[in-house]
Amino acid sequence: MPTEVRFVILGLATATLLLCAASSPALTVDQSQSQSNTPRDVDVPFVVSAPSVVRTMLEMAKVQKQDFVIDLGSGDGRIVFHAAQKYGARGLGVEIDPKLVETAVEDTQKLKLGGLVNFRVQSLLETDLSPATVITMYLLPDVNLQLRDKLLQLKPGTRVVSHDWEMGDWQADEMRVIQNPEKSLGLEKTSKVFLWVVPTRLAGRWCGQIHKENEAITVNIDIEQRYQELSGSLSITTADAGTKKTVRKIPIRTNLVGNRFVISHGNQDIVTDADDAGLTLSADAPRPVHIADIGVNPLLGRRFPFFNTVPLAEPVRLTRGSDCMNARTTPVK
Ligand SMILES: C[S@@+](CC[C@H](N)C(=O)[O-])C[C@H]1O[C@@H](n2cnc3c(N)ncnc32)[C@H](O)[C@@H]1O
Repeated sequence: MPTEVRFVILGLATATLLLCAASSPALTVDQSQSQSNTPRDVDVPFVVSAPSVVRTMLEMAKVQKQDFVIDLGSGDGRIVFHAAQKYGARGLGVEIDPKLVETAVEDTQKLKLGGLVNFRVQSLLETDLSPATVITMYLLPDVNLQLRDKLLQLKPGTRVVSHDWEMGDWQADEMRVIQNPEKSLGLEKTSKVFLWVVPTRLAGRWCGQIHKENEAITVNIDIEQRYQELSGSLSITTADAGTKKTVRKIPIRTNLVGNRFVISHGNQDIVTDADDAGLTLSADAPRPVHIADIGVNPLLGRRFPFFNTVPLAEPVRLTRGSDCMNARTTPVK
């Protein structure tokens, strides 16, 4: 953002803060969590997200009762309140301005949400984000970038939603533009909402086996990962009298969505689900997926990539490993 625009915004924020200071009743707030509450800590001015934007942010994050929502720079607490009131989710608002926290604490009591939500005077850059399953933010692009590495370390599957601002080259999984006639900033009366799902870390080699008659067919996947973008290959290898033969190598270039990615193979799809212990490959039902063409070439009289495809009738389980020829399959429950 150009410095002058940021300067104007900060000017507006200062005016808002002065107005708040003049109108807020004196309340007591525990500031024990506050670090150094100096003006340079205020990275972003106080501007509220309109109710339609708040609704969209929480809808896109698919907030549910079991979620724990942390709003970074919680302002008057509206995002955390909405998550608690509409979805029954627990929440924490982290805010540098003690007066805004005082108001949010008062409103918590008025709304009888004391068991579900909390507000804390603290710098968002110093907040422990690890309990969150959903992070919401209406900050600025450079603040989003400062947070990016920390967000990527969160539990895979954690949803991050940001009002208006992106996250550098970490592409959003979803973006919505909504009409926002009440928007007080800028000429455009629209808001953008971006959603990222913290990707599972999948880089490396994954191994497993398919058994066909007496033959063990080794399946391995080599993955390179950049955020949710995956590239690499899926290889099918047979061992014949001690000789390894890679019969099929399928390139992978796809995006991880949550814990799932899809490997396109011809006009068929292999769906791959990741969990703590490994990857599970399965056919994109109802179509069977044939992942290898292995047969006896009648002319050469020996094993050769030919026909007799191996259907992916049962899910195949892959675990982390470097020596795929010695991989052992574990039954898929
Ligand atoms: C644009 S407002 C968003 C308010 C609310 N989240 C919403 O969407 O309506 C940004 C908020 O971040 C707060 N803030 C700015 N710098 C902060 C920091 N370093 N740590 C915590 N909060 C901060 C501001 O005081 C302001 O309330």
